[in-house]
Amino acid sequence: MRKQLKISAIQNGTVIDHITAGMALKVLHILGLDEEPPSSTVSVIMHVPSRAHEFKDIVKIEDRELKKRELNRIALLSPHATINIIRDGEVAEKHHVRPPREVVDLSACENPNCITNTREPVSTRFKVIRKEPTVLKCVYCGREQDVDVSRLE
Ligand code: CTP
Ligand code: ZN
Repeated sequence: MRKQLKISAIQNGTVIDHITAGMALKVLHILGLDEEPPSSTVSVIMHVPSRAHEFKDIVKIEDRELKKRELNRIALLSPHATINIIRDGEVAEKHHVRPPREVVDLSACENPNCITNTREPVSTRFKVIRKEPTVLKCVYCGREQDVDVSRLE
């Protein structure tokens, strides 16, 4: 019989579970794990059948516990994600992500005339005016836009 490959439980680290199906790679991007080689093992599991929603993605990051600021960014892409902190092979903490009310320096404003695009350096600042799907409103010019992962900084 052929051996089956399975993504196993991890000993220590962070499991981001219940990621909206199709968003796993964007979550990796928002965490900066797609740029530099990660310092630890990262597993990406896409399109897993799920009870709550039809399908979900899962990301497992070994030997790294994520910070609150990083968690908030995940919520912009995947409002139902849960963060499981794994210690000694057990779920030590479980958090539901919550979108922040405001995001600073996350993505560029789509309005070319916005002060954030014309006068450097001005931090971008958006209010989160809708959570699912996320809609951002620029505090400076009022332009409303989606979270465009290609523009995330
Ligand atoms: N997990 C892991 N390694 C461990 C423990 C858990 O990779 N040592 C993963 C599980 O595979 C699961 C997630 O962490 O994807 C959460 O684990 P657990 O809370 O045990 O699962 P559920 O009870 O199904 O979680 P929920 O109620 O949030 O759906
Ligand atoms: Zn703007």
